[in-house]
Amino acid sequence: MIYLDNSATTALDDAVLDEMLPWLRSEYGNASSIYAMGRKARVAVERARSEIAALMNAHPAEITFTSGGTESNNSILTSACRESGLVDRVVVGSIEHHAVLAPAEELARQGFGHAVLPVDAQGRYRPDQAGQYDDPRTLISVMHANNETGVIQAIEQLRAAAPSAVLHTDAVQTFGKIPVDAQQLGIDFATISAHKIHGPKGIGAMFIRKGIDYKAHQVGGGQERNRRAGTEPVALIVGFAAAARRSVDRMEQRAAHMRELIDHARHSIAATIANVRVNTPEQFSLPNILNVSFPDAAQLDGESILQLMDIRGVAVSNGSACVSGSLQPSHVLSAMGLSAAESRAAVRLSVSHATTRAEIETAVETLATILHDLRGTV
Ligand SMILES: Cc1ncc(COP(=O)(O)O)c(C=O)c1O
Repeated sequence: MIYLDNSATTALDDAVLDEMLPWLRSEYGNASSIYAMGRKARVAVERARSEIAALMNAHPAEITFTSGGTESNNSILTSACRESGLVDRVVVGSIEHHAVLAPAEELARQGFGHAVLPVDAQGRYRPDQAGQYDDPRTLISVMHANNETGVIQAIEQLRAAAPSAVLHTDAVQTFGKIPVDAQQLGIDFATISAHKIHGPKGIGAMFIRKGIDYKAHQVGGGQERNRRAGTEPVALIVGFAAAARRSVDRMEQRAAHMRELIDHARHSIAATIANVRVNTPEQFSLPNILNVSFPDAAQLDGESILQLMDIRGVAVSNGSACVSGSLQPSHVLSAMGLSAAESRAAVRLSVSHATTRAEIETAVETLATILHDLRGTV
């Protein structure tokens, strides 16, 4: 199996697993208990928190562990409106992940203000449009990079255009792959997750800028300094820090390798497949994602392309795990102006540092054969 769906999730790194194992086997103490086993777990949790904070130029007190990106996004948006009462309105980008769009829609149903920022044809938010929402009682939620196309947003410019708004960025696709510097980006909140960077599933974090009076969305035992209740999953937290450290330490060499593979895929798809639209621009994009679609998609079945790739041993997706398995057109590609048929027939290749050039070559050949067969042309 050639696995090219690393933006959906990644393989757990063996070295990360090794760091986690003691905390799953013998060191099972509760990090909130006062006896030695608990104190040892507490030290591991706080060490992990400090490491992750340093990797994104934050203070350890600004990092709160959660179960992942989905929970972080839900908690940040909901708490900002409800528990913390920081804002009356949420403005979300049109190409955000459903873990941002859905809580924003739910908040709108509850009576909070709601607006959507459009993107241009390349899938980028425009600072002047964000500037229209520059208001201290408004939360603007714009992702750092998109999970379907890999397009990177100009967060610093968006911040400059809306200096007084409360700013959240979903950095799930960028943390560990390109620099995420909380100070430089000028954000108030950020979302990160471990399983996109060869860490374990079920662990992520919220960055909450110092000085913000954040009140927990998830309440209970008062863990995480009263910001997110629940017994600390020590092994997952240790694994998250290990994965983050390894990703950031190796960022440049991994990015160069992945960029080379994506460039190779970009050029060989253009050379071997007729009538293809590339949805990932060369500039402003992550090193690991290439999204393509087919303008004659009305005659093709997008789902069939993915299934035929799978039958031939290549795991790819159309970009959003939430909608795969259904025939929903991608809301990201639709927002960029693609037709419904074209937005349905998209293929996203997402590589990791472990992907090889031979795997990319086989995947592109397989895609070319499938399209050739589906189109019935020579
Ligand atoms: C941009 C983005 N945000 C949020 C999430 C959800 O993260 P998690 O799977 O950790 O809940 C994902 C993962 O699919 C994502 O790509």
